[in-house]
Amino acid sequence: EHSLLRIRDLSKEEIFDILQDAMAFSCSQSDWQFPNKVLIANLFFEPSTRTHYSFASAQHQLGACVENFTAQGSSVEKGESLYDTVKTFESIGFDAVVIRHKKDEYFKELENINIPILNAGDGCGNHPTQCLLDLLTIYQEFNTFEGIKVAVIGDIKHSRVANSIKEAMDMLGGEVVFSGPAEWCEHDENYRDIDEAVAWADVVMMLRIQHERHADTMKMSKEEYLVKYGLTKERAARMKPHAIIMHPAPVNRGVEIDSDLVEAGNSRIFKQMSNGVLVRKAVIKRAMGYKPFDK
Ligand code: CP
Repeated sequence: EHSLLRIRDLSKEEIFDILQDAMAFSCSQSDWQFPNKVLIANLFFEPSTRTHYSFASAQHQLGACVENFTAQGSSVEKGESLYDTVKTFESIGFDAVVIRHKKDEYFKELENINIPILNAGDGCGNHPTQCLLDLLTIYQEFNTFEGIKVAVIGDIKHSRVANSIKEAMDMLGGEVVFSGPAEWCEHDENYRDIDEAVAWADVVMMLRIQHERHADTMKMSKEEYLVKYGLTKERAARMKPHAIIMHPAPVNRGVEIDSDLVEAGNSRIFKQMSNGVLVRKAVIKRAMGYKPFDK
């Protein structure tokens, strides 16, 4: 059984296996499909565009049958629990489920599920496939993780992306620092002032303000946020010449990043999305018990 719940559940070797397999999906195994019938359900209890539809794209490309579940219109509206919902998918013949849910570590309730679960994001906890696509994007750029410096900037406190990339880069020999407003970013030993972080980093990873997870509304204007905590053109000009801009998206253009930088030459934001399909193909293939390409 090859569920993927948290990046920290993977060994270094397993991460490299997934990344190598993902890269093979862009060339030598681009046409690879399941030889048998595979049914996968995508259960999204929170909004998503990239994760949901790149999982669906990956599943279709692999020849799997795909069902997209939404709580609205399902028996969740009659009070059915997450466990009973997932157990139902298992019982009616599905081979794997992809789940996004607002509850941190929702998967702890699902220990008696006997089909693979692929975590598409749990609350402020984990987003392992996002982390893998981020790693793939970094690896394609630098050919290594050793010594690579990543500055994650923005709403760190509510970000499952920040947690996952920190865990992964610590394991792989990179360095991660955080920057952002004091209320959303602890000023501990990993904190850097934004100007220092931008000039230091090989990867400047900007994060969206997650208003949906905040109790209060933001007190400053969007323009003020950009100037104080965002990636402005002036700051971007002080990035190292080889450094890249990343963002998990969706992007609030003009808030955490100047709109013109989203598609700048050193931005990999849309590349990250394409890489999302490749890593999700690798993760789904692994979940179904197939070995990575060439192993
Ligand atoms: N990056 C990310 O998880 O995007 P979605 O919320 O659109 O899936």
